[in-house]
Amino acid sequence: MEPTTAPAKPRFSPAAQAEIKRLLAHYPDDRKKSTLLPVLHIAQAEFGGWVSPEVQDLVAETLGLRPIEVYEVSTFYTMFNLKPVGKHVLEICRTGPCMLRGSDELTAHLERITGAKVGETSPDGNFTLKEVECLAACGFAPVVQVREKYYESLDTVENVQAMLNELHGLVHRPILPWEETGLPTSLQKQHN
Ligand code: FES
Repeated sequence: MEPTTAPAKPRFSPAAQAEIKRLLAHYPDDRKKSTLLPVLHIAQAEFGGWVSPEVQDLVAETLGLRPIEVYEVSTFYTMFNLKPVGKHVLEICRTGPCMLRGSDELTAHLERITGAKVGETSPDGNFTLKEVECLAACGFAPVVQVREKYYESLDTVENVQAMLNELHGLVHRPILPWEETGLPTSLQKQHN
């Protein structure tokens, strides 16, 4: 019988470890849980755009939490992906104002173009479609969020195509939010 090797336990990169250490320094030891959201973002950026159970366990271990404390947060917020995703995750707002401005048609259009249904990844692995609630940009409905970038006024074929063209231009280059500066954009603000 072939010997089986256990899959390698995920580990944070030195850059991520340093950032987590910096975050933890803001809180007393008994308040490490306060860093859970940014650390989950770091984990998602580090491990391919989603947080597997093993990665969530790593987050729990890193912060001295019980795994369930991580799971209950990661399953509550739609920004955390709990299964593998494509290179680009299109988060389509489906709340009232976006719906009135055509989010249903937008979703159907994106499903046709990408070949993926909502909740699925396109066969070429480039796009995952998700529906989310209000992205707080109702004045520019309908809206799609891709990582930290908003694509707005997607009520015309031209605007949708412009978004896809831009994303296609990036398709062969995995984009991590911290690619340029080494930190997730949400965390960069704390450095300014
Ligand atoms: S309803 Fe879509 S951004 Fe608010």
